[in-house]
Amino acid sequence: MTTKAIRGTYLTFTGDPFRSSLEEVMKVESDGIILIEGEKIKDLGPAEDMLKKLPEGTEVTEYKDSVIMAGFIDSHVHYPQTQIIGAYGEQLIEWLNNYTFIAEQQFANKDHASRVAEVFLREQLRAGTTSVATFCTVYPGSVDAFFEASERLNMRNIAGKVMMDRNAPEALCDTAKMSYDDSKALIEKWHNKGRQMYAVTPRFAPTSTPEQLEAAGALWNEHKGTFMQTHVSENVNEVAWVKDLYPEHEGYLDVYDKFGLCGDRALFGHGIHLTEKELSRLSETGGTITHCPTSNFFLGSGFLNVHNAKKNERPVRVGLATDLGAGTSFSILQTLNETYKAAQLNGNALSAGHAFYMATRGTAESMCLDDKIGHLAPGMEADIVVLDLKSTPAIDFRMSFAKDFEEQLFILMTLGDDRATRATYVAGDVVYDRGAEAVTGKNAVFA
Ligand code: GUN
Ligand code: ZN
Repeated sequence: MTTKAIRGTYLTFTGDPFRSSLEEVMKVESDGIILIEGEKIKDLGPAEDMLKKLPEGTEVTEYKDSVIMAGFIDSHVHYPQTQIIGAYGEQLIEWLNNYTFIAEQQFANKDHASRVAEVFLREQLRAGTTSVATFCTVYPGSVDAFFEASERLNMRNIAGKVMMDRNAPEALCDTAKMSYDDSKALIEKWHNKGRQMYAVTPRFAPTSTPEQLEAAGALWNEHKGTFMQTHVSENVNEVAWVKDLYPEHEGYLDVYDKFGLCGDRALFGHGIHLTEKELSRLSETGGTITHCPTSNFFLGSGFLNVHNAKKNERPVRVGLATDLGAGTSFSILQTLNETYKAAQLNGNALSAGHAFYMATRGTAESMCLDDKIGHLAPGMEADIVVLDLKSTPAIDFRMSFAKDFEEQLFILMTLGDDRATRATYVAGDVVYDRGAEAVTGKNAVFA
């Protein structure tokens, strides 16, 4: 097995700073070495200790003026919407009808899907994101296209075929039975094939009949270890619509709950307008809210109260996500920038430590993936991002006034974007190298 080592300042988390103190769980090594063997982290620690035990001939790549951390995780995103990012003027339902449902029809063509999947994954890697949970479209070929591209890169990604049998254009609708059969075949083909994982994907309650949600619940229950992804309580008009469509249910979350769609590995996009009772139920069942602040501000949906969701009396899991193409940036740094602003509007100042925890280990924990990704420790998969602390002249200037490392991290998440990514490692391999791209004009993995 090949070994390699990365040297520089690294940051990782051993637990959840919302539960204990930040000092207890935030680990910074100012001159550290991470030893990678094959696809995994073999060992890490201060350089002065590690240098003594590196296997002979190990190549050490050093990154100065940088911070090394676990690769970012985007827990809710739509790869087919890469082509409609920044679509003007609408709120959720109109935006879906006028942009999204039109674009998604193009994914009946698998070549188109493959091309978009590649652009999407290249941009994620450029932003330092090494794992995503993505919606595909109703067409099974769009799922194959995504997983084929993901598998080539050996990324740990989650994806699923959108299930949708009403309130959408005819060409985008399946039936309860078709969606069950197609999704089941895709699970058998892709779930746990290498690093690929499947999510049963009813788009949201308004575009599914009760029969389809029942089929989704049955399918998810029959395939333990798969994920479930959908949307909940994103927009006030959407919440009212669900009340009309499902009058016999106690609320929006209850629709999913009654069809067996709550539990560990259930990823609920947004959750902005969930009631206290619904948050309690989510806490009981283990489901996750995927927080998508750039999307929530862009569509005028509102903003989640993360601190309230995660409060110790009835903690709800929260992951971080871009929700492209309603979200406006591939960059998790920019997503943290907006997470901070959403927290400010709720009366909380989110520290840089809490923010970078959310972007890495926090999202991995929310998805039950923290035994594999999200932090730096021996045995973890070597998905790693190296972030430049001086990626633009303005940031370089601002950093020269920073009094400590925490302030540097805060500047990085407020002013930084994809230009800050110096290198991205997936399963131990460099899949994005900013320096090499600048010289050759070519990405490390995409010609
Ligand atoms: N609700 C249902 N579908 C979607 C979608 O594609 N994007 C967002 N932001 N919300 C949704
Ligand atoms: Zn979404």
